[in-house]
Amino acid sequence: MVERIPVAVMGATGLVGQRFIQLLHRHPWFELVSITASERRIGQKYGETVRWMWSEEPPEEVQEMKLSPTNYEGVRDAEIVFSALPSSVARELEPELAKRGKIIVSNASPFRMDDDVPLINPEINPDHLKLIPIQREKRNWKGFIAKNPNCTTAILTLSLKPLLDNFGISNVRVATMQAVSGAGYEGVVSMDIIDNIIPFIKEEEEKVHRETKKILGTLTSNRVEPLNIGVSASCHRVPVLEGHLEAVFVELKEKPEDVNGVVKALSNFKGKPQELKLPTAPEKPIVVRSEPDRPQPRFDRMTGGGMSVVVGRIRWSEIDQNEIKYMVLGSNTIRGAAGTAVLIAELLRAENMI
Ligand SMILES: NC(=O)c1ccc[n+]([C@@H]2O[C@H](COP(=O)([O-])OP(=O)(O)OC[C@H]3O[C@@H](n4cnc5c(N)ncnc54)[C@H](OP(=O)(O)O)[C@@H]3O)[C@@H](O)[C@H]2O)c1
Repeated sequence: MVERIPVAVMGATGLVGQRFIQLLHRHPWFELVSITASERRIGQKYGETVRWMWSEEPPEEVQEMKLSPTNYEGVRDAEIVFSALPSSVARELEPELAKRGKIIVSNASPFRMDDDVPLINPEINPDHLKLIPIQREKRNWKGFIAKNPNCTTAILTLSLKPLLDNFGISNVRVATMQAVSGAGYEGVVSMDIIDNIIPFIKEEEEKVHRETKKILGTLTSNRVEPLNIGVSASCHRVPVLEGHLEAVFVELKEKPEDVNGVVKALSNFKGKPQELKLPTAPEKPIVVRSEPDRPQPRFDRMTGGGMSVVVGRIRWSEIDQNEIKYMVLGSNTIRGAAGTAVLIAELLRAENMI
């Protein structure tokens, strides 16, 4: 049997951290050796302290694991460190760990837009991992940092990539309906969101604009040249637990004969993770549904184990003859967070980069 790579999860008690626990349990390549949380939980057994949010129980072995401090000592035994920390903590700690040799695959937003930091959605831009040697040399780090995108952007860009490759894109408009889990365990107060919609998510639209262009951009010798398209997002929080739904309007450069051309491009899309048969890669990254009332968060968020996005209601715009419009749905905590991070780590291993 191949020896598994020791990994740690920082922020293991949070919503994304809990998804990491599920995805890494009995992972064929990675062995969970350390889990961390905030100071108040250090030394406590995971099963006794975690406020577990998902329907199946946490794995028994993990319930027995004790929480370590969120610092170098806490993840000393791990080669790869998955980060599900709040931004403020990640900003200080991730560079320190990378400097000391750890491979950080992170969900937190700091450094995503740095020129030498790969921002990866594995089916779309695996080649951007070539920034890693540049980052290591420039910063004189033994380890490195790789980032996965903001949840809304991860779901959106997956649906855009086949359209870009097949028809070209001039502009993208998107209106989101984002689940409360996207804001973390303490993110949205129930009195604010039940019987309500909040038409503002701080800094979310800016993240969608810039991250979409970087992920779909082109790698040059030492940075990514962002894709030259217009992106305009309007982001909203809705009373759904899990699964972001997005209404997308894409102005294509070339128009296929009919909507079927778009359906085919989306359904046939496959990336490197599928080619390499990575353990967390869904068989189909994009699942197209033909019913007029799908996708829906409650029914479709766990498609492909939460790693596929589901597209429906594909139709032409009434205003611009080159504009196609559709709905896309994805799990914000899996495709939008932990699942993509695990897939990045699998890609790194498959490409012999770790
Ligand atoms: N939720 C999503 O869908 C999503 C999607 C993409 C990216 N992200 C990003 O992923 C990260 C985690 O999000 P989340 O939704 O899982 O948040 P969360 O539910 O609030 O969990 C935060 C985690 O960080 C730990 N933590 C908080 N303060 C800490 C401190 N000072 N020192 C050490 N650990 C600390 C918490 O430990 P305690 O339990 O002990 O407090 C918990 O384990 C954030 O950066 C977020 O922006 C989230």
